[in-house]
Amino acid sequence: MSCKTEKIETNEISFYVNGKLQKIKDEYPLYTSLGSYIRNVLKLTGTKVYCHEGGCGCCVVHATEFDSTTNQYKELSVNSVIFT
Ligand code: FES
Repeated sequence: MSCKTEKIETNEISFYVNGKLQKIKDEYPLYTSLGSYIRNVLKLTGTKVYCHEGGCGCCVVHATEFDSTTNQYKELSVNSVIFT
């Protein structure tokens, strides 16, 4: 599982999941986590969820985020249930 974030426009977020572009506007509540999106929308149930609090680590996914201060991408491991 890998995710890569991209430029955020007003009321829209774009990111890639496993190389496929995802564009989201207002169709999901603001509190929708990355883990919920991956499992419930994309039906990628290989990403597991257990504690829902960021304590157990079973929902960790790889992410690549653009850092506008350094103008470079950085690699992250994120708990997808608390990444909104
Ligand atoms: S479900 Fe426990 S840290 Fe994500």
